Amino acid sequence: MKVSNMAFRGAAISLATLLLVSAWAFALRAQKSYDEPWRPQFHFTPPKDFTNDPNGLVFYKGEYHLFYQYNPQGTEWGHMSWGHAVSTDMLHWKNLPVAIPEAPEYMIYSGSAVVDWHNASGLCTDRADPSCLIAVYTAAGANLQRQNLAFSNDKGRTWTDYARNPVADLKQPDFRDPKVIWYEAEKKWVMVAVLADERKAVFFDSHDLKTWALRGSFEAAAGEKGQWECPDLFELAVDGNPANKKWVLVVNRNPGAPAGGTGTRYFVGSFDGARFVNETPETQELWADYGKDFYATNSFADLPSKDPRKIWMGWISNWQYANREPTAVWRGAQSLPRALSLSQFPDGIRLVQKPISETQGLREREFLELTNVSVSTAMQAMHLANVRGDMLEIEAELAPGEAKEMGLRLRKGAGEETILGFKPGSKEVFVDRTRSGEVGFAPEFPGRHKASVGESSQLKLHVFLDRSSLEVFVNDGERVLTDRIYPAVSSDGIELYSDSAKSRVLSLTIWKLGSVWR
Ligand code: FRU
Repeated sequence: MKVSNMAFRGAAISLATLLLVSAWAFALRAQKSYDEPWRPQFHFTPPKDFTNDPNGLVFYKGEYHLFYQYNPQGTEWGHMSWGHAVSTDMLHWKNLPVAIPEAPEYMIYSGSAVVDWHNASGLCTDRADPSCLIAVYTAAGANLQRQNLAFSNDKGRTWTDYARNPVADLKQPDFRDPKVIWYEAEKKWVMVAVLADERKAVFFDSHDLKTWALRGSFEAAAGEKGQWECPDLFELAVDGNPANKKWVLVVNRNPGAPAGGTGTRYFVGSFDGARFVNETPETQELWADYGKDFYATNSFADLPSKDPRKIWMGWISNWQYANREPTAVWRGAQSLPRALSLSQFPDGIRLVQKPISETQGLREREFLELTNVSVSTAMQAMHLANVRGDMLEIEAELAPGEAKEMGLRLRKGAGEETILGFKPGSKEVFVDRTRSGEVGFAPEFPGRHKASVGESSQLKLHVFLDRSSLEVFVNDGERVLTDRIYPAVSSDGIELYSDSAKSRVLSLTIWKLGSVWR
């Protein structure tokens, strides 16, 4: 049965079609503007209505696909369906109609997609090229969550539910968010999903994507609280050494993140196709992001073979206030795509994230480039170059010297600023959004979010500011802080600050970035 036709019957068809067509016409009009207050200009947002998790990230036949948790009927969570957009660079997205709509008996929760290259599923219909896209999503009923398969033979434009769904069922109400990966060592697919309330990841395997066998599980240490959602599993070389590879098990935790509410945890260890063994000491809780707005990550499957990167995206919000963020027309956004690697640090192996290099194509104009100047000289140069704006990329190396605190004030205006600071004494980087603009829509929103950095007298920052989104990559991606902000349009100032006249700006480059929606 065609998923996209499922909800409509008989006389209801004409009314439903009319509603759909007018909703889509509205969406297209909204897409033309893509310029409402706080609408990010180089991050993905849907034309209208609510989004949360990125789903089914996959590359196939020249296109990157972004499916995403979507409520086509409103700006709050509900009626979950898979929205859809495609891109040729993971930055410029073209919106497509809803890929998998809510069914009468269940919503379409998070999941993943892979390419079935050689028709192992028997569901690919093109004889000349026997490959197709397979999605596995959670069919979330009132008291039961199970995993369904859908397939597409037209590059993800239309999806058909597999006739023998579900493909995985543990008869549990919290079994969800299947992430399917290709496990090369045994030439099979592995699916990792969660039993959310038990904080347990479960591993299945399959040779045809339709029959899945439960092979193992991984549980949180005693004392772990909250739910586990949206797991992921991938192997990366440590410091690029192919002889030293480790597996990363990602679980998104709700709540309990460092900045409060929801956040992305990970474990580093080994995986044998059935069992994950954690090698991170239990005393170390590893988090991918120390801002308050990075959750429900999903990594791309089947990137072109000439591209060795592992790339993921996350939803830049927090379940504490996701339904209350002060945007109209649409609500929710996806992060920049980030390339992942592992590095050995003094206290262990850690995940490192960098914005994908394709972001360099967003640079419209370089405002200035400075080397080794004082803060006041840098400020004068910024003034002369009239550096301001709400879509900026900043690369900076700061040497505070004797300063207790040094940093940047972003989106500065009357009574408003977002502080990005470094306190070398306490080895701490922070984003303070308590006075960033509109903060009163949720008591959990205003705040100061911090991350610790290694012992160093210098700090390297790579910052992407996109109207209401701030992503800060610290020390080449050793730490990341992602935070949404809602400043006044007129708050477009930027300043450097330090409490010591001896602080140096070792380097500073600032670009104005362009919109992907025009
Ligand atoms: C994570 C999550 C997932 C679920 C989806 C529902 O944000 O709660 O566990 O599949 O959102 O929209």
